[in-house]
Amino acid sequence: MPRPAIDLFHKTFGTTPRSAASAPGRVNLIGEHTDYNGGPVLPIAIAERTTVAAGPCANGDAGVLEAISTRDRKVVRVKWQEELPKGWGAYVAGVLRELWALEVTMPNASVRVAVASNVPIGAGLSSSAALTVAAARALGALAPGGAALQPRQLAGVAYRAEHDQVGVGCGTMDQTIAALARRDHALLFEAASLETRQIPFRARLLLVDSGTRHDLRNSQLAKRRDECDAAVRRLKVELPELVWLASWPAEWLARLKRALKEPIRSRAVHVVSETARTRFAAQLLEQGRLKQFGALLYESHESCRRLYDCSSPELDTIVATAKRAGALGARLTGAGWGGAAIVLVNKTDTKTIPAIQHAYERAYGRSAAISEVQASAGAHTERI
Ligand code: GLA
Repeated sequence: MPRPAIDLFHKTFGTTPRSAASAPGRVNLIGEHTDYNGGPVLPIAIAERTTVAAGPCANGDAGVLEAISTRDRKVVRVKWQEELPKGWGAYVAGVLRELWALEVTMPNASVRVAVASNVPIGAGLSSSAALTVAAARALGALAPGGAALQPRQLAGVAYRAEHDQVGVGCGTMDQTIAALARRDHALLFEAASLETRQIPFRARLLLVDSGTRHDLRNSQLAKRRDECDAAVRRLKVELPELVWLASWPAEWLARLKRALKEPIRSRAVHVVSETARTRFAAQLLEQGRLKQFGALLYESHESCRRLYDCSSPELDTIVATAKRAGALGARLTGAGWGGAAIVLVNKTDTKTIPAIQHAYERAYGRSAAISEVQASAGAHTERI
């Protein structure tokens, strides 16, 4: 997979890149809209990856980023400290600024990057974190001492590039799994304490792309974050030491419901119950109790649909059909409002895929792309 980025670099800039790195997209098994509320998430990395090839810019101008991708094949050229380019180039410039803040990249560094990816964009599979984590690794390796950045530092650079520089209201899940993932494992990540636990995951998981796309920069995500912040402000009256919404005790749901008005109440009930559900789900997965684990996936979807209002008719069709066909569990994955759903099935299941295909075609007149997901490895450097 590294070849297309390296070849594109060579073809565009006429030289060989000095470093290359790749990072994966992800699906989240459970724990939706919990990360930016200080709760747990349980993602796996998928096989689809983004590769970034990087090298110094030789033409003398200081502080320049030149970037090209196999998707649009147009060279973006900016002074990365002064302006963010439009589109995906902003994420790369954001990474440079964050590496500069860590004193890894020099302020006047001029660099070139070429990007190749097979992570679908806007499908809820975290194409942006795959790009920022791969860029952090490849660009970090260009600088003296940069190659020593640890996976958690890569995740931090990538998160701040997306959140602080580009201005996406994301949490820390996507960058963390892209940097820390292990093959055949899910990662339980507690966003407040930053604790992590690798949990073996070899179950059969389907990914169903609804074909509807979202752009997180203009989406409902920022609105939901504001609603969660409003919930914390009100709940602090009840519990002054509350910092994170996810830390509200699950046994006090009745008190939370009394304190908040709709729609804030529903958003907060989702976050608090999803937090408990995700920790329980991680335990069940560790014990190999897939049937009970799957039941929690259905519950999580219902909570996302009804309380957090982040589903879509297409995702609901997929989940309801999976349930009728006897799948162990199913839910939307990622931010929602379109994108993809995951479906957990027995190894011997033959009914679920045709049932979803049939129902989807009947409802929407087009087919849904269905693939099997393998829990894959996180970011690594690529040989040039
Ligand atoms: C997006 C964000 C993540 C997370 C999910 C919802 O994918 O990037 O950090 O908040 O939405 O769980």
